[in-house]
Amino acid sequence: MSNYYPDEIIEEIRISNDIVDVVMEYVKLERKGKDYFGLCPFHKEKTPSFSVVPTKQIFYCFGCGRGGNVIHFIMNIENLEYIEAVKMLADRAGIQLPEGDSREEKEKAFLKREITRINTEAARFFFEALNSPRGEKAREYLRKRKIKEQTVKRFGIGYAYEAWDELYKHLLAKGFNKEHIIKSGLVIPGKKGGCYDRFRDRLIFPIFDVRGNVIAFGGRVLDSSTPKYLNSPETVLYNKGKNLYALNFAKNSGEKSLLIVEGYMDVISLHQNGIINAVASLGTAMTESQGRLLKKYAEEVIISFDSDAAGQAAAMRGLDLLNDIGCNVRVLVIPDGKDPDEYVRENGAEAFRKIINNSISLIEYKIRILKKQIDTGTPEGKIKFLNKIANVLSKIDNNVEIEVYIKKLAEEYDISPESLYSEVYRRIKPKENFRKISANQENNKDNKVKLLVENEDDKLVQDERFIIAILCTDNSVYKYVRDKITVDTFTDSENRKLARVVLERLENNKGIAPGELLNIVDKKVANDFARIINKECPCDDNKKAILGKIRSIELYKLKKRQMEILELLKQKDSLTEGDVEKLGLELKSIASLIKEKKSG
Ligand code: UTP
Ligand code: MN
Repeated sequence: MSNYYPDEIIEEIRISNDIVDVVMEYVKLERKGKDYFGLCPFHKEKTPSFSVVPTKQIFYCFGCGRGGNVIHFIMNIENLEYIEAVKMLADRAGIQLPEGDSREEKEKAFLKREITRINTEAARFFFEALNSPRGEKAREYLRKRKIKEQTVKRFGIGYAYEAWDELYKHLLAKGFNKEHIIKSGLVIPGKKGGCYDRFRDRLIFPIFDVRGNVIAFGGRVLDSSTPKYLNSPETVLYNKGKNLYALNFAKNSGEKSLLIVEGYMDVISLHQNGIINAVASLGTAMTESQGRLLKKYAEEVIISFDSDAAGQAAAMRGLDLLNDIGCNVRVLVIPDGKDPDEYVRENGAEAFRKIINNSISLIEYKIRILKKQIDTGTPEGKIKFLNKIANVLSKIDNNVEIEVYIKKLAEEYDISPESLYSEVYRRIKPKENFRKISANQENNKDNKVKLLVENEDDKLVQDERFIIAILCTDNSVYKYVRDKITVDTFTDSENRKLARVVLERLENNKGIAPGELLNIVDKKVANDFARIINKECPCDDNKKAILGKIRSIELYKLKKRQMEILELLKQKDSLTEGDVEKLGLELKSIASLIKEKKSG
C-alpha cells in the first residue's frame, strides 16, 4: 500500500473515527455483549452475520468474509481507493491533512456551506411567493390537487414567479456571490453576462437530505405544458442517486418498512393521508447508494409501481439491486394503473393500507410478469415460461422457499415437480458443482498432491498471519518469541512487510493495536486478518498458541526442504557423488531436527 500520508497521521485518522460510529452511518447495528451485529452491507443475507468489534476496532462478516479496519470499511462501502477513504475519514473527524490539496477540500467545504445557505434562502423566497398575491394561481392549483395548508408548510412547497430573474436578484441583494449562486444550480448564466432563474412559473418542491437541509429543488408546471418537472442539476450538495425524497420524515415513521414511490406528488399525498413511511426515488432508476440508505432505515422495502406495464426492465433491475444488497423487498402493484396519489385520493388511506398489506414478494412479482409476457397456451410458450421461471427460482437462497414455488407452479402448469426441480438445480450453486468436479478428480494423484501442497502453503501463510495478529492483540507475548522469530521467519511477502513493522515496534517497546496494523494492508489481506483477529485472537493461552504456530512453521519448512531433497535425489544422474553425499547428510540432520521439534 503506498501511503502518501505519514503513518502517524493515518493512525490519528483511524483512532478519531470510531468504527462503530462510522459503520452505524451505513448499517443498522445491534449490540450483543461487547460486540455489534447487523445485516452485512456487502452481501445478501437475511440474518445478521456482520460484526463490529469496538475493542479491536475491526469489522468482519462471517458470511462473506469481508473485514478490516474503519478505512477498509469506507473503501468497501463507498467504493473508494485507500487514499480517498483516508481523506473522507479525515474530513469526518475534522483532521487537517498536510498535503496541498487540503486547500481544495477547504474550498469545497466552503462552497457546500454557501450553497446550503443559498438554498435555504431560496426556499424561503419560494414559500413567501406562494403566499403572496402573485402566488394565487399556484395556491389554486394546490387546492385543486387537495393539498392542505399544513402539508404545504411541512414540505416547504413554494412558487417560482413568472419572471426572469427575481430569485437571482433577491439572492444578490442578500449578499451572495454570483459564482456561488450559479453553482447552486438555481440560476443559469445567460449570453450577455447576466443570469436567469432556472425555475419560472412553477410549483416548487424543496428536496431535503436526511438531516433536513435543503439540497436541491424540483419544479412542476401548473398546467399540462412540458417538461412537467424541472429539477436542480447535480451540485456539490446534490447527488440524485444518493438521495431519497422525504426520507428525512419517513425515517422517523416508526414503521419497519419504507414505501418507495416515484414522484413528489405521490409522497406528499401519502404523507397527508398519514402514510408517512413513503419516500420517492424521483423518477430515476434505483442506485446502490439509495439501496443502502433504505437498508439502513428499514427492515423491509416496499416498492410501488403505477401499473404493471411500462418501465418494467429498469424497475426490475432496481428490484434485483435492492435484493442483492440484502433488502427484503416486496412489490405493491396499484390497481387500475393509478399512481399512489390518485389511488389514495380516490379510495382513502384505509384502502391504501390494505393494498400495502397485500403487496407481494419479489419472486411472486416476477412470476406474475412472466405470466403476462408469455403465452403459456402453446407447448413452446409453456417451455419458455418454465425455463424463465427456473432462472428466477434458482436465485432464491432458501431451499424451502424454492420448494414451495416449485410445487405451486408444477400443479398450476401440470408438469412434474421433479422436472422443474432439475431445471432449477442445474442453475444453482456452480460452486457446489465445482466441488463435486474436483472431488471426482481426486482419483488423479498428481492433482491431489498439487492440491495438498497448495493447501499446506496456504496454511503456512495463515499461521504466519496468526502470529502477527496475536502479537498485535496481545503485545505482551512478544517477550516469549523475541529470540525465536525475525522477519525471515515469514515467507509470504505481505506478512514480511507487516512483521517488519510489528517486530520493530515491539522491540522498541512501542505498542501496536490490531486496527493499526491493518492501516498498511490492502482490502484482500484485511479480510484475512480481520477474520483471524475476530475469530482467533486472543485465545485461551496466547503464549502457548504463538509458540505452537512458530513450531509448526519451522516443521513445515523442514518438511518442505526434505521433500525437495528427495526430489533432487530421484534425478541422481544429474548429480555428482559429492552432491549426493551432501544432500544425504542434510537429510539426516533434517530428520533429527524434525524429531526434536516434534518431541519438544
Ligand atoms: P410522474 O409524472 O409520475 O410525477 O413522474 P407525479 O409526481 O405523479 O406528478 P403529477 O402527479 O403529475 O403532478 C414521477 C417523477 O419523475 C420525475 C419527477 O420526480 C416526478 O415526481 N419527473 C417526471 C421528472 O423529473 N421530469 C419530468 O418531466 C417528469
Ligand atoms: Mn401523479
